[in-house]
Amino acid sequence: MKVAIVTGGTRGIGRSISIELYKEGYKVIAIYQGNKATAQSLADEYPDIDVQTCDISREKDVSKIIKTIYETYGRIDCLINNAGITRDGYFLMMSTEKWGTVLNVNILGAVNISKSVLRYMKVKKNGGKVVNISSTSGVTGQIGQANYSATKGAIISLTKSWAKEFAADNINVNCVSPGFINTDMTSNLKNKAEIIENLIPLQRFGDPQEVAWLVAFLSSDKANYITGKNFVIDGGMIND
Ligand code: NAI
Repeated sequence: MKVAIVTGGTRGIGRSISIELYKEGYKVIAIYQGNKATAQSLADEYPDIDVQTCDISREKDVSKIIKTIYETYGRIDCLINNAGITRDGYFLMMSTEKWGTVLNVNILGAVNISKSVLRYMKVKKNGGKVVNISSTSGVTGQIGQANYSATKGAIISLTKSWAKEFAADNINVNCVSPGFINTDMTSNLKNKAEIIENLIPLQRFGDPQEVAWLVAFLSSDKANYITGKNFVIDGGMIND
């Protein structure tokens, strides 16, 4: 059975990805931090999904959990770097702390876990798939989100570098950049109706399931000839 790791795999988009990959027949390990209740509800609903907690910004904890996963399941075929956080604010008022927190989770978190997983994939010589979750903010930039947008831009360029560096190992690395998706991250937006009317040609926010379908495709053998690419899924919002 193929093994897939989904960071932030218990909530929002990551939860839909975990469930979709589980339905596609993968052994799924969903990694989360905080939000115990949502993690527990996923574990209760899908006992075969292995729900584990780890702060991906801590390198030592990450290498420990990846080692355990590898020893338990004997393989890692797929990594979905989905965990991400926001600490929004106008640039001139954005504290160094807000920068550090977002950089640590969104960039270093993905770097830490990818370093461990790519090492196993390379040694095992069975190829593999990595799908990184960026954002349309990483492509276009966003007022009040300089820190978040910078990390999401970095995720796109990390995708391109890793795709080149690991192509010879038959490891495909791609990126998915969602626009506005209905999750906790967007639930507090006060101007939702205005965003829909003015910005989104398809006239609605996306569903996490719709992102999960794209991620599942990029994780599958159907995407064997695709690598180093960023796929925007945003209801037609941006010209990328
Ligand atoms: P969410 O806030 O619902 O879930 C985030 C997940 O990340 C949670 O499971 C949480 O436990 C995990 N997480 C956070 N910090 C972590 C850490 N240090 N270590 C391990 N896990 C950690 O987020 P949502 O909305 O589902 O977003 C998922 C991804 O999609 C993020 O990378 C986000 O930036 C991106 N995205 C979301 C959009 C949206 O409209 N919701 C739009 C564009 C991109």
